[in-house]
Amino acid sequence: MRRNLVVGNWKMHGNIKSNQLLLESLTDGLRDLKNSDYVVCVPNPYLFQARSLLEATNIAWGGQNVNQFEEGAFTGAVSPHMLTDLGCTYVLLGHSERRVLFHETNLSAAARFDAAIKADLTPILCVGETLAEHDAGLTEVIVASQMDAVMATLGDEDFARAMHLNMVFAYEPVWAVGTGKTATPEQAQEIHQFIRQRIARRNAGAASKVRIIYGGSVKASNAKELFAMPDVDGGLVGGASLNAKEFEAICRVANSLSSNPCLTEEDHIVS
Ligand code: 13P
Repeated sequence: MRRNLVVGNWKMHGNIKSNQLLLESLTDGLRDLKNSDYVVCVPNPYLFQARSLLEATNIAWGGQNVNQFEEGAFTGAVSPHMLTDLGCTYVLLGHSERRVLFHETNLSAAARFDAAIKADLTPILCVGETLAEHDAGLTEVIVASQMDAVMATLGDEDFARAMHLNMVFAYEPVWAVGTGKTATPEQAQEIHQFIRQRIARRNAGAASKVRIIYGGSVKASNAKELFAMPDVDGGLVGGASLNAKEFEAICRVANSLSSNPCLTEEDHIVS
Protein backbone atom coordinates (compact mmCIF):
# COMPACT_ATOMS: atom_id res chain seq x y z
CA MET A 1 0.00 0.00 0.00
CA ARG A 2 1.17 3.50 -0.74
CA ARG A 3 0.96 6.66 1.28
CA ASN A 4 -0.47 9.69 -0.54
CA LEU A 5 1.75 12.63 -1.35
CA VAL A 6 0.76 16.22 -2.10
CA VAL A 7 3.37 18.55 -3.54
CA GLY A 8 2.85 22.28 -4.00
CA ASN A 9 4.81 23.79 -6.86
CA TRP A 10 4.91 27.52 -6.28
CA LYS A 11 6.67 28.13 -9.60
CA MET A 12 7.92 31.75 -9.77
CA HIS A 13 5.55 33.21 -7.21
CA GLY A 14 5.88 34.68 -3.76
CA ASN A 15 7.73 37.20 -1.66
CA ILE A 16 9.02 37.14 1.89
CA LYS A 17 5.82 38.51 3.38
CA SER A 18 3.35 36.40 1.40
CA ASN A 19 5.46 33.25 1.87
CA GLN A 20 5.45 33.72 5.60
CA LEU A 21 1.67 34.07 5.73
CA LEU A 22 1.21 31.05 3.48
CA LEU A 23 3.66 28.81 5.33
CA GLU A 24 2.41 29.77 8.77
CA SER A 25 -1.14 29.07 7.72
CA LEU A 26 -0.14 25.69 6.22
CA THR A 27 1.88 24.71 9.26
CA ASP A 28 -1.14 25.33 11.36
CA GLY A 29 -3.63 23.75 9.00
CA LEU A 30 -1.72 20.55 8.24
CA ARG A 31 -0.44 19.90 11.75
CA ASP A 32 -2.94 17.15 12.53
CA LEU A 33 -2.68 15.35 9.18
CA LYS A 34 -0.69 12.17 9.70
CA ASN A 35 -1.63 9.84 6.84
CA SER A 36 0.07 11.52 3.89
CA ASP A 37 3.23 13.40 3.00
CA TYR A 38 3.22 17.12 2.18
CA VAL A 39 5.86 19.09 0.33
CA VAL A 40 6.27 22.63 -0.99
CA CYS A 41 8.69 23.34 -3.82
CA VAL A 42 9.53 27.00 -3.47
CA PRO A 43 11.72 29.33 -5.56
CA ASN A 44 15.40 28.94 -4.64
CA PRO A 45 15.78 32.36 -2.94
CA TYR A 46 13.11 31.34 -0.42
CA LEU A 47 14.48 27.91 0.53
CA PHE A 48 16.17 29.39 3.57
CA GLN A 49 12.90 30.92 4.67
CA ALA A 50 11.10 27.62 4.02
CA ARG A 51 13.62 25.81 6.18
CA SER A 52 13.29 28.19 9.07
CA LEU A 53 9.49 28.07 9.02
CA LEU A 54 9.03 24.36 8.26
CA GLU A 55 11.85 22.52 9.98
CA ALA A 56 9.89 21.35 12.98
CA THR A 57 6.70 20.58 11.04
CA ASN A 58 5.23 17.74 8.99
CA ILE A 59 5.75 19.71 5.76
CA ALA A 60 8.90 19.06 3.73
CA TRP A 61 10.36 21.47 1.19
CA GLY A 62 12.19 21.05 -2.06
CA GLY A 63 13.58 22.66 -5.19
CA GLN A 64 11.83 23.12 -8.52
CA ASN A 65 14.85 21.99 -10.50
CA VAL A 66 18.51 21.19 -10.00
CA ASN A 67 21.67 21.20 -12.06
CA GLN A 68 23.50 17.97 -12.75
CA PHE A 69 26.91 19.33 -11.79
CA GLU A 70 28.22 19.65 -8.26
CA GLU A 71 29.93 22.97 -8.70
CA GLY A 72 31.72 25.10 -11.21
CA ALA A 73 31.27 27.91 -13.69
CA PHE A 74 27.54 27.45 -14.30
CA THR A 75 26.06 30.91 -13.85
CA GLY A 76 22.55 30.81 -12.48
CA ALA A 77 22.60 27.11 -11.69
CA VAL A 78 21.97 25.39 -8.36
CA SER A 79 23.62 22.11 -7.42
CA PRO A 80 22.05 19.15 -5.62
CA HIS A 81 24.22 19.78 -2.57
CA MET A 82 23.08 23.39 -2.39
CA LEU A 83 19.53 22.08 -2.10
CA THR A 84 20.40 19.54 0.58
CA ASP A 85 22.41 22.20 2.41
CA LEU A 86 19.14 24.08 2.74
CA GLY A 87 17.36 21.01 4.04
CA CYS A 88 15.56 20.08 0.83
CA THR A 89 14.51 16.46 0.60
CA TYR A 90 12.66 16.61 -2.74
CA VAL A 91 13.30 18.09 -6.16
CA LEU A 92 11.07 18.43 -9.22
CA LEU A 93 12.67 17.31 -12.48
CA GLY A 94 11.59 17.57 -16.10
CA HIS A 95 8.63 19.84 -15.43
CA SER A 96 6.89 20.71 -18.70
CA GLU A 97 7.65 24.40 -18.19
CA ARG A 98 11.35 23.54 -18.00
CA ARG A 99 11.05 21.37 -21.09
CA VAL A 100 9.03 23.87 -23.15
CA LEU A 101 10.29 27.27 -21.98
CA PHE A 102 13.87 26.38 -21.11
CA HIS A 103 14.44 23.68 -23.71
CA GLU A 104 15.37 20.97 -21.25
CA THR A 105 15.49 17.53 -22.80
CA ASN A 106 14.93 13.95 -21.72
CA LEU A 107 18.69 13.63 -21.65
CA SER A 108 19.15 16.53 -19.25
CA ALA A 109 16.31 15.23 -17.06
CA ALA A 110 18.20 11.94 -16.82
CA ALA A 111 21.44 13.68 -15.84
CA ARG A 112 19.64 15.76 -13.20
CA PHE A 113 17.84 12.68 -11.88
CA ASP A 114 21.14 10.89 -11.47
CA ALA A 115 22.72 13.87 -9.70
CA ALA A 116 19.69 14.25 -7.42
CA ILE A 117 19.69 10.67 -6.19
CA LYS A 118 23.43 10.74 -5.64
CA ALA A 119 22.83 13.71 -3.30
CA ASP A 120 20.00 11.88 -1.48
CA LEU A 121 17.25 14.06 -2.92
CA THR A 122 13.96 12.36 -3.71
CA PRO A 123 13.35 13.03 -7.40
CA ILE A 124 9.86 13.84 -8.67
CA LEU A 125 10.06 13.17 -12.38
CA CYS A 126 7.37 15.00 -14.35
CA VAL A 127 6.08 13.45 -17.53
CA GLY A 128 3.17 14.32 -19.77
CA GLU A 129 2.04 15.06 -23.28
CA THR A 130 1.10 18.31 -25.02
CA LEU A 131 -2.37 18.92 -26.41
CA ALA A 132 -1.21 18.19 -29.96
CA GLU A 133 0.36 14.91 -28.81
CA HIS A 134 -2.77 14.09 -26.85
CA ASP A 135 -5.01 14.75 -29.84
CA ALA A 136 -2.73 12.67 -32.05
CA GLY A 137 -3.12 9.71 -29.67
CA LEU A 138 0.55 9.83 -28.69
CA THR A 139 0.18 10.11 -24.92
CA GLU A 140 1.64 6.70 -24.09
CA VAL A 141 4.46 7.06 -26.62
CA ILE A 142 5.50 10.41 -25.15
CA VAL A 143 5.19 9.36 -21.53
CA ALA A 144 7.12 6.16 -22.22
CA SER A 145 9.92 8.04 -23.95
CA GLN A 146 10.20 10.52 -21.07
CA MET A 147 10.30 7.71 -18.52
CA ASP A 148 12.62 5.47 -20.47
CA ALA A 149 15.16 8.24 -21.02
CA VAL A 150 15.66 8.33 -17.27
CA MET A 151 15.13 4.69 -16.35
CA ALA A 152 17.52 3.47 -19.02
CA THR A 153 20.37 5.46 -17.49
CA LEU A 154 19.86 3.90 -14.06
CA GLY A 155 21.96 0.85 -13.36
CA ASP A 156 20.57 -1.63 -10.82
CA GLU A 157 22.34 0.08 -7.96
CA ASP A 158 21.03 3.53 -8.90
CA PHE A 159 17.54 2.12 -9.41
CA ALA A 160 17.63 0.62 -5.92
CA ARG A 161 18.91 3.93 -4.59
CA ALA A 162 16.07 5.82 -6.30
CA MET A 163 13.61 3.37 -4.75
CA HIS A 164 15.21 3.76 -1.36
CA LEU A 165 14.65 7.51 -1.72
CA ASN A 166 11.02 6.83 -2.69
CA MET A 167 11.31 8.32 -6.18
CA VAL A 168 8.08 9.81 -7.43
CA PHE A 169 6.56 10.12 -10.89
CA ALA A 170 4.21 13.00 -11.65
CA TYR A 171 1.88 12.71 -14.60
CA GLU A 172 1.13 16.23 -15.76
CA PRO A 173 -0.65 16.47 -19.09
CA VAL A 174 0.65 19.77 -20.46
CA TRP A 175 -2.83 20.72 -21.68
CA ALA A 176 -4.07 20.60 -18.09
CA VAL A 177 -1.27 22.67 -16.53
CA GLY A 178 -2.49 26.12 -15.55
CA THR A 179 -5.44 25.87 -17.90
CA GLY A 180 -8.24 25.05 -15.48
CA LYS A 181 -8.83 21.96 -17.60
CA THR A 182 -8.24 18.75 -15.62
CA ALA A 183 -7.81 15.23 -16.93
CA THR A 184 -10.81 13.15 -15.98
CA PRO A 185 -10.13 10.65 -13.18
CA GLU A 186 -10.43 7.87 -15.78
CA GLN A 187 -7.91 9.54 -18.10
CA ALA A 188 -5.49 10.04 -15.20
CA GLN A 189 -5.96 6.45 -14.01
CA GLU A 190 -5.29 5.06 -17.48
CA ILE A 191 -1.93 6.81 -17.78
CA HIS A 192 -0.94 6.26 -14.16
CA GLN A 193 -1.58 2.57 -14.67
CA PHE A 194 0.49 2.70 -17.83
CA ILE A 195 3.36 4.35 -15.92
CA ARG A 196 3.16 1.70 -13.20
CA GLN A 197 3.17 -1.11 -15.74
CA ARG A 198 6.19 0.42 -17.42
CA ILE A 199 8.05 0.47 -14.09
CA ALA A 200 6.97 -3.14 -13.54
CA ARG A 201 8.81 -4.11 -16.70
CA ARG A 202 11.94 -3.07 -14.84
CA ASN A 203 10.97 -4.27 -11.38
CA ALA A 204 7.54 -5.51 -10.35
CA GLY A 205 8.16 -5.02 -6.64
CA ALA A 206 9.19 -1.42 -7.21
CA ALA A 207 6.18 -0.68 -9.39
CA SER A 208 3.73 -1.43 -6.63
CA LYS A 209 5.59 0.90 -4.26
CA VAL A 210 6.35 3.90 -6.46
CA ARG A 211 4.09 6.87 -5.94
CA ILE A 212 2.58 8.37 -9.07
CA ILE A 213 0.96 11.74 -8.48
CA TYR A 214 -1.26 13.72 -10.83
CA GLY A 215 -0.76 17.37 -11.75
CA GLY A 216 -2.77 19.75 -13.88
CA SER A 217 -5.39 22.08 -12.42
CA VAL A 218 -5.82 20.08 -9.21
CA LYS A 219 -8.20 21.90 -6.87
CA ALA A 220 -10.01 21.10 -3.66
CA SER A 221 -13.13 20.48 -5.74
CA ASN A 222 -11.60 17.78 -7.98
CA ALA A 223 -8.95 16.26 -5.70
CA LYS A 224 -11.22 13.60 -4.23
CA GLU A 225 -12.27 12.00 -7.50
CA LEU A 226 -8.70 12.07 -8.81
CA PHE A 227 -6.98 10.77 -5.67
CA ALA A 228 -9.59 8.04 -5.29
CA MET A 229 -8.35 6.32 -8.44
CA PRO A 230 -6.30 3.22 -7.61
CA ASP A 231 -3.06 4.37 -9.26
CA VAL A 232 -3.26 8.05 -8.34
CA ASP A 233 -1.25 8.58 -5.17
CA GLY A 234 -1.81 12.28 -4.63
CA GLY A 235 -1.17 15.48 -6.53
CA LEU A 236 1.34 17.99 -7.84
CA VAL A 237 -0.42 21.29 -7.36
CA GLY A 238 0.47 24.59 -9.01
CA GLY A 239 -1.88 27.55 -8.72
CA ALA A 240 -3.94 26.11 -5.88
CA SER A 241 -0.83 25.64 -3.74
CA LEU A 242 -0.52 29.42 -3.41
CA ASN A 243 -3.77 29.60 -1.49
CA ALA A 244 -3.38 28.20 2.02
CA LYS A 245 -6.99 27.16 2.51
CA GLU A 246 -7.25 25.57 -0.93
CA PHE A 247 -3.96 23.67 -0.53
CA GLU A 248 -4.92 22.56 2.95
CA ALA A 249 -8.22 21.25 1.62
CA ILE A 250 -6.38 19.24 -1.05
CA CYS A 251 -4.02 17.84 1.59
CA ARG A 252 -7.01 16.89 3.73
CA VAL A 253 -8.50 14.93 0.84
CA ALA A 254 -5.19 13.06 0.37
CA ASN A 255 -4.99 12.43 4.10
CA SER A 256 -8.51 11.05 4.29
CA LEU A 257 -7.93 8.68 1.36
CA SER A 258 -4.54 7.39 2.47
CA SER A 259 -5.02 3.90 3.73
CA ASN A 260 -1.47 3.40 4.87
CA PRO A 261 -0.41 5.63 7.75
CA CYS A 262 3.31 5.06 7.48
CA LEU A 263 6.03 3.63 5.30
CA THR A 264 7.82 0.69 6.82
CA GLU A 265 11.40 -0.35 6.27
CA GLU A 266 10.03 -3.13 4.13
CA ASP A 267 8.45 -0.61 1.79
CA HIS A 268 11.89 0.58 0.84
CA ILE A 269 13.18 -2.82 -0.12
CA VAL A 270 13.08 -3.54 -3.81
CA SER A 271 12.56 -7.21 -4.34
P1 13P B 1 -1.63 24.01 -12.01
O1 13P B 1 -2.08 23.27 -10.79
O2 13P B 1 -1.59 25.49 -11.82
O3 13P B 1 -2.37 23.58 -13.24
O4 13P B 1 -0.09 23.61 -12.26
C1 13P B 1 0.24 22.28 -12.28
C2 13P B 1 1.71 22.18 -12.25
O5 13P B 1 2.38 22.52 -13.20
C3 13P B 1 2.34 21.69 -11.03
O6 13P B 1 3.67 21.36 -11.25
